[in-house]
Amino acid sequence: MDQGRMKNFSRRIFTDIASTMITGLAYVGSKNGLFKLMDGRGPMTVDDVVTASGLHPRYVEEWLKGMVCAEFLDYDPQARTYTLPAEHAYFLNAEGTDHFMTGLYERAQSLLSVAPKVAEFFREGGGIRFSDYSDEFHSISDKMNRGNYELRLPTLWMEEMPDVRAKLTAGGRGLDFGCGVGRPPIALAKAFPKSHFVGVDSHTLSIETAQRLAKDEGVSDRVTFLNQRIDDFDSREKFDFISACDCVHDLEDPLGTLRKIHDLLAPAGTFFVIEPKVADELEENKSPIPTMFYGFSMFYCMTQSLAKGGPGLGTCYGTANMKQLMREAGFSRFDVLNIRSPVNVFYAVRH
Ligand SMILES: C[S@@+](CC[C@H](N)C(=O)[O-])C[C@H]1O[C@@H](n2cnc3c(N)ncnc32)[C@H](O)[C@@H]1O
Repeated sequence: MDQGRMKNFSRRIFTDIASTMITGLAYVGSKNGLFKLMDGRGPMTVDDVVTASGLHPRYVEEWLKGMVCAEFLDYDPQARTYTLPAEHAYFLNAEGTDHFMTGLYERAQSLLSVAPKVAEFFREGGGIRFSDYSDEFHSISDKMNRGNYELRLPTLWMEEMPDVRAKLTAGGRGLDFGCGVGRPPIALAKAFPKSHFVGVDSHTLSIETAQRLAKDEGVSDRVTFLNQRIDDFDSREKFDFISACDCVHDLEDPLGTLRKIHDLLAPAGTFFVIEPKVADELEENKSPIPTMFYGFSMFYCMTQSLAKGGPGLGTCYGTANMKQLMREAGFSRFDVLNIRSPVNVFYAVRH
C-alpha cells in the first residue's frame, strides 16, 4: 500500500469530521442568533456575549472556542476577545439577501437527521416523503432561496430572456411549477404589474404560506396560488412563461410532468428551469459542491422521489440528461442561459 496516500487519507478523515462538527456548531450558533449578535460589534469577551445574548455561559464559551478553532471567529489571546470578521458576517448574517449562506449549515444539519432512516432504505428501497420532512426543513429551503428569487429573478435573470421580459412587461401569464412558498411568482408580480401569475404546489403548508405572503406583499390580486398537482390543469390553459425552480430533478414522474408543462406553455412561451450545477461526467465532479449535492440527493432529492415510486433522478442529474429529458417531453429548443452561479445552472426551454 502507498503509505503517503494512507497518511493523507487519515488526515482527511479528521478534516471531514471537523467539517461535520462545524456544521453542528454553526447550526446552534445560528439558531441562537449568535452571528447576528456578533456582527459589527467588534471584539467581545465571553461575558459580553453572554450578557448581550442572555444565553447559558458555559454553552456560549464552548461555542466561541469551537468557532475560533474553525476559524469563523478571530481571537485575541491577550484581551481574550472574540470577533466575527465583517467578511464572514457578510455570509453568516445576511438572511433575506442573495449572499446568505448560514442556511446551508441548517440544511445540512436537517438532512443528516434523516440518515438513519435512509440507511434502512438501502435494503428494501422506498424513501422519505416530501411531506415527512419537518416544517423547519421547508422554511430553511425558503431562507436559502428567497434572496435569489426576490433580488435576481426579476432583474439579472430576466435580462437573459428579453422576449419574456417584454411579454411580461406588456401583460402576460406566468406559472411557477413547484412554487413552494411562492417567492418567484410574488417577485415577478411586483416587477411586472400588468401580468398575472399562478403558483402551483402539491404541498398544502407551502401554499398556505404563499397565500399569506402574497397578501402581505399586496399582490394577491395578481398572483393565484393553487394547492394541486400540475396534472390537474386543463391543458387548454396557456402560459407565456413557466418556471420550475430547483424541482425537475425531484419529480416522481418527470416525463409526465414535463409533457404537461409542454402542453401548458404557449407556442411562443419560455419554460425557465433552474437546476443544480454539476458536470455531466462523474470524474469531473470531484470537488466540494458536487459532493455536497450528492449528500443533498441521498438525504432529500433522490429519496423523496423514490418514496413516491419515482425514478429518483437525483440532484446531480446534469445538463446532458436534462436536455435529453426535455426532448423526450416534446421541447425542441434547449438553451443554457448565460447566468453565472457557483451552484445553479439555468435553462430556457421552448417548443
Ligand atoms: C425542492 S421544492 C422547490 C420549491 C421552490 N421552487 C424553491 O425553489 O424553493 C419542490 C417543490 O415541488 C413540489 N412538487 C413536486 N411535484 C409536484 C407536482 N406533481 N405538482 C405540484 N407540485 C409538485 C413540491 O411539493 C415542492 O414544494
